[in-house]
This record gives sequence, structure tokens and C-alpha cells, in this order.
Amino acid sequence: MHLDVTEESRWEAAVTTAVKEYGGLDILVNNAGVEITSLITEVDPKDIHTMLDVNILGTALGLRHGLRTMRPGGAGGKGGSIINISSVAATIAFPGIPIYSATKSAVDRLTRVSAVEAGKFGYGVRVNCIYPGLVPTAMGAGLANDMAELGLFGSAEEAVGAVVELTPSGRLGEVADMADVVVFLASNASRFVNGVGLPVDGGMGM
Ligand SMILES: NC(=O)c1ccc[n+]([C@@H]2O[C@H](COP(=O)([O-])OP(=O)(O)OC[C@H]3O[C@@H](n4cnc5c(N)ncnc54)[C@H](O)[C@@H]3O)[C@@H](O)[C@H]2O)c1
Repeated sequence: MHLDVTEESRWEAAVTTAVKEYGGLDILVNNAGVEITSLITEVDPKDIHTMLDVNILGTALGLRHGLRTMRPGGAGGKGGSIINISSVAATIAFPGIPIYSATKSAVDRLTRVSAVEAGKFGYGVRVNCIYPGLVPTAMGAGLANDMAELGLFGSAEEAVGAVVELTPSGRLGEVADMADVVVFLASNASRFVNGVGLPVDGGMGM
């Protein structure tokens, strides 16, 4: 169903629908994100608000509603696993994405504090995040173009080449590389993994 992650009422509708249609809520992936490339000296305050809203507020509302639903006494009430999508940008300093990087560092902290709170109050919910490397989705391909436009690289291909050069696995990420790790964190195979940020970047962020 349509869910604008910045809207509290849409979250309420989404978790209510999930519980009604599927009999519970076991897994939540906070994946929605926005990246608007800009040097810190040039950044438009409106763009700062957009990234804070989607990346931080959106993830925080997902955690709020996911945990309230999954915890004992909640509409789901059976515990579960929440996976937040942070970024390699939370672990290394890359020019052109200062606000985006700050929001993804915030996602990392939201993850860890939420895992501790869930543990303290016995929610039975694990909370983890992943740090994807560069993946050529609309966002990833757009970022390479923006880097070239800002003059940080000679061309988008050069920007991609520089990322690959930094990556011991020698290639960009693929969506399936991310999805497989999210499935692992959602599943019982990761039952004793909690409160971590897991790099899925071919070693780029080391
Ligand atoms: N592509 C990369 O290189 C890369 C690297 C690291 C992390 N990430 C993260 O991975 C996640 C997925 O990114 P992607 O590469 O698929 O980007 P994308 O731009 O291709 O897709 C982002 C998605 O978020 C959705 N979205 C934006 N605002 C929303 C809102 N208010 N409510 C609901 N949905 C909203 C968009 O509709 C879109 O489907 C994001 O959190 C992103 O920050 C991506």
C-alpha cells in the first residue's frame, strides 16, 4: 500500500493493514531514502529538510510503529526483526553528500539505541542496520552523475571507477547483494545478531 514514511497517519494505516491482512507484523525494513547531492557551502535548506524528513523522521516513525506493534501487548505482539538501511556514507567521508551522510549516521544511532530500548523492555525485537556501498539504482547512478557535475571527478564513469578502486571486491553493489543480507537479518539465522551496522559494500568502507 502507499506509505509516505514522513506521515504518522500513513504508518498507523500501514501497520493496521498488515496485522489485519496477514495476521501480524514480524519484519520491517526501513528502506525509503532520499539523497540530494550538494557541497556543504551550496546546500539548499529546503533540501536539508527533505533529507532529514525522509531519512531520519521516516526511519524513526517506522521504528516507533514497528516496535509498538511487535512488542508484547501490541497488535502483532510476537516480537520480530527491524532492518534499517543506512549507508557506507555513515562510515566514510565522501565529498558532495554531507547532509545525506549525516542522516545515515543518524540511522545508525537510531538503530543501536532502539535495539537497547527493545532489549531493556523485553520487546523481543532485534534492530539492525546495513551500510550498502554504491549500487547503481536511480539514486546510485544519479550520485555518480552529480559527482561529475560538481567537478569532483572528470565524468560519472570516473566517479564509478574511483569507487570500484576503493572496493576490495572490485565492483559496484547489486540490489540482490543488499536483499540477501536483509533476508539474513530478518531470519532466524541471525537470531543472536542485534544492534549492529553491517557493511554490505565489498569492503569499500574499511
Ligand atoms: N543506491 C545506493 O548507492 C545506496 C547506497 C547506500 C544506501 N542506499 C540506501 O538504500 C535505500 C534505497 O535506495 P535506492 O538506491 O533504491 O534509491 P532510489 O532513489 O532508487 O529509491 C528510493 C525509494 O525511496 C522512496 N521514497 C522516497 N521518499 C519517500 C517517502 N517519503 N515515503 C516513502 N517512500 C519514499 C522512493 O519512492 C524510492 O522508491 C535508501 O535508504 C538509500 O539511502 C542506497
